[in-house]
Amino acid sequence: MKVFVTGGAGQVGSTLIDMLAARGDDVLAIDNFATGRRDNLAAHAKVKLVEDTIVDGAVVDRLFEEFKPDVVVHTAASYKDPEDWGTDALVNAAGTANVARACKNHKVGRLVYFQTALCYGTKPTQSPIRLDHPINPVNSSYAISKTAGEHYVQFSGTDWVTFRLANVIGPRNVSGPLPIFFQRLSEGKKCFVTPARRDFCFAGDLARTVVNAVDGKGHGTYHFSSGKDVAIRELYDAVVDAMQLNDRPEPEVKPLGPDDAPSILLDPSRTFADYGAIEFTPLSEIARLAVSHWRQHGVQGGYTHLKLEKNER
Ligand SMILES: NC(=O)c1ccc[n+]([C@@H]2O[C@H](COP(=O)([O-])OP(=O)(O)OC[C@H]3O[C@@H](n4cnc5c(N)ncnc54)[C@H](O)[C@@H]3O)[C@@H](O)[C@H]2O)c1
Repeated sequence: MKVFVTGGAGQVGSTLIDMLAARGDDVLAIDNFATGRRDNLAAHAKVKLVEDTIVDGAVVDRLFEEFKPDVVVHTAASYKDPEDWGTDALVNAAGTANVARACKNHKVGRLVYFQTALCYGTKPTQSPIRLDHPINPVNSSYAISKTAGEHYVQFSGTDWVTFRLANVIGPRNVSGPLPIFFQRLSEGKKCFVTPARRDFCFAGDLARTVVNAVDGKGHGTYHFSSGKDVAIRELYDAVVDAMQLNDRPEPEVKPLGPDDAPSILLDPSRTFADYGAIEFTPLSEIARLAVSHWRQHGVQGGYTHLKLEKNER
């Protein structure tokens, strides 16, 4: 199978590419390294990485023309500067429009997309949030532009799957609290936590499900979520344990901010029905893998997409 992966040097893209290459698929990836790392992608005869941007429609078109993908997995996204609305709109809305239109023009078999749970707003009216919860992305440039992107995917005329994600983390995670906790604890700095609860899922578990989507399983919109949330404090403790710190530094506990949802839980029942039961990697194992990776390769990122300090993406 020929799979075109946008954002191939990012957390989800590169984790998926490892799996596709291992089973013999041909992969063409594009990344501009806005948040991705070159060393996320090991050299592999089946994988080619082009350094360029999906914002350039002519580039996207040329790559589709040359590679003729069977399936496109679109993970590229902009989020690292919450004030840079223009770049978010260019990458997440216009860039996704370029990818969706190329899928249509080149008769691609399937397009897979990733949406943020923030599309439901920071004050969802259900817990867990069901797939028919009203869409209300007017909380960040990221959520607005990602929602426009999701509409282009649905408009593409291509068979599509969208995974709306809880917090996806792992050794290649550059956003949210996990890399921040590791970095600050490594430097002997104090961390803070809030009473917020989140559903942290391992990028490898998501990538396994995406491989099934690449192979044609499922159709339409899904929540990728374990359906269970944990306190941010539990993630902090998992990092402290994985780092085997002698003193157990106590984090400062701050109250929830005005826009902070106490919990963001997505109802994964449609995902389990169509993709089967997913074995979710425990938090302690995710933290252990991340700490060991960052000790070897260094940590990067710690981006947040909202202006205030937030813990979800
Ligand atoms: N990780 C999460 O918790 C989370 C939550 C909700 C949604 N998502 C979505 O999942 C997808 C994957 O997220 P991730 O965790 O792998 O993020 P990531 O930042 O690790 O990966 C995104 C990749 O896109 C690349 N990119 C950015 N702009 C580009 C451009 N113009 N052209 C080409 N490449 C570009 C980045 O360099 C990066 O490698 C994204 O679409 C994101 O919006 C992620």
